[in-house]
Amino acid sequence: MDLLKLNCHTGSFLYFKSFRIKYGSRRFLPQKFLGMKICCIGAGYVGGPTMAMIADKCEDIQVTVVDLNAERVDGWNSDDLPVFEPGLTEIVLRRRGKNLFFTTAVEDGIREADVIFISVNTPTKTSGVGAGKAADLRYVESCARQIAEVGGGDKIVVEKSTVPVRTAHSVQEILSSAENGHSYQVISNPEFLAEGTAMKDLEKPDRVLVGGTVTPEGRAAVDVIASIYAQWVPQERIIKTNLWSSELSKLTANAFLAQRVSSINSISALCEATGADVDEVSHAIGADSRIGPKFLKSSVGFGGSCFQKDILNLTYLCEHFGLPEIAEYWTKVVEMNDLQKKRFVTRMIDAMFNTVSEKKIAVLGYAFKKDTNDVRESPAIDVCRYLLDETAELRVYDPKVEPETILSTLGTKEGEDSVSICKDPYEACEGSHAIAVLTEWDEFNDLDFAKIHAQMKQPAFLFDGRNVLDLKALEEIGFRTYGIGKG
Ligand code: UDX
Ligand code: UDX
Repeated sequence: MDLLKLNCHTGSFLYFKSFRIKYGSRRFLPQKFLGMKICCIGAGYVGGPTMAMIADKCEDIQVTVVDLNAERVDGWNSDDLPVFEPGLTEIVLRRRGKNLFFTTAVEDGIREADVIFISVNTPTKTSGVGAGKAADLRYVESCARQIAEVGGGDKIVVEKSTVPVRTAHSVQEILSSAENGHSYQVISNPEFLAEGTAMKDLEKPDRVLVGGTVTPEGRAAVDVIASIYAQWVPQERIIKTNLWSSELSKLTANAFLAQRVSSINSISALCEATGADVDEVSHAIGADSRIGPKFLKSSVGFGGSCFQKDILNLTYLCEHFGLPEIAEYWTKVVEMNDLQKKRFVTRMIDAMFNTVSEKKIAVLGYAFKKDTNDVRESPAIDVCRYLLDETAELRVYDPKVEPETILSTLGTKEGEDSVSICKDPYEACEGSHAIAVLTEWDEFNDLDFAKIHAQMKQPAFLFDGRNVLDLKALEEIGFRTYGIGKG
């Protein structure tokens, strides 16, 4: 039997059967990962950047990212990566073909790996029990079944995808029922990277969370995963927990962050009614060290693949475990977000003499935040849909989002209906009645607004859904301006 002896930081020795890592005699696990192979299933916004960082920091580890989607894999093997993240291309180019590989050969990747990260998508269910709330775990389950079928030795299986609490239990059950003679340890290692700053978040994380079963084998597997991150993350930032705490911490972190945004957005409505300025309120309350300044930027609403999905997931769990009041409490965070998007459009309509019908609106920014090409749950989608319902004509510009993505999320085609995609902001604004800034791209601060104003229908309206522009200066040019939470 090929036994691996792991020298854990307590000085005791743990054993993880036939795990082929050689390790040194240092205080904390392997000095080198000679021959260690990682496979990540899912080459998405999470899997791609995370694996690129591991490959860059651990040159002894061979990292293979597999994905069913051949187009996506081709993208990762080209110069035009499918995910835009500042700093990502440099790392991928540095490691690709050396110890970082992207392939559709899923089974080979699984078979050869010692450690498998599952990083596939877990969208909200659209039908059946829990529709609209529960996470659809079909991809996670199919990964587990595939791992069990393929075999290839003992493995550590890491949940990277955000999943409901106790999913690891299901994954473990599927793996254990394989009867292929191999043993598997399931670990929860949720991602905390935010898009647009993913590489920074991966390089200097506030914490890395690794959860495992409370058994000698489980602890040993936790130590193996922790030791990978320990190559560049200080040990005090690596938190080891049991499986369920790790899974629940991920949902809770996102729920708390989203709650802060919804809380300040709720106050923005009161600011607009009273004449207070929400940015001033944020600054004042954020100066209290108990509250802190982050995630207090009022906006047209939060978006992204995680916040809404994870809260809905949390509420579903609460209901499932007989805690309807707790579910209701968290549901309000999502409802507040929906209200914020509706309020933004209502304010536009009110300002523009109670109608936007057949008026041209320049939409600046479509991504859910700056520095990403991701539009999942972007507030821009709902805002644009509401405006289209009011029969407005939209001229959309975003520096990174593909035109086809914008059109498909609005259920339209170029040249059809009332949406056109513009190649620059000036084209979008020319002849428009109003501008709606929906993503905080830095480049919007550098626009020549005097030139834009001169080319717009008068009176020219500007609605800053991100509070990034100097509204006073724009008023002086002649715009009628409206910021979030500015009365
Ligand atoms: C996803 C989840 O949305 C998030 O909750 C989780 O924390 C990490 O995984 P992301 O990487 O942004 O985040 O998803 P996405 O960009 O959709 O990538 C998932 C990839 O998995 C896709 O490229 C898809 O083709 C691939 N996939 C999906 C597989 O290779 N096999 C499958 O069975 C299902
Ligand atoms: C989030 C979490 O931050 C990350 O830890 C987790 O792993 C995935 O989900 P992400 O969705 O990529 O990351 O971006 P984030 O920076 O959290 O922003 C989410 C949304 O909230 C964006 O639409 C952003 O514009 C909005 N937001 C954020 C605000 O409106 N105001 C703020 O103060 C902060």
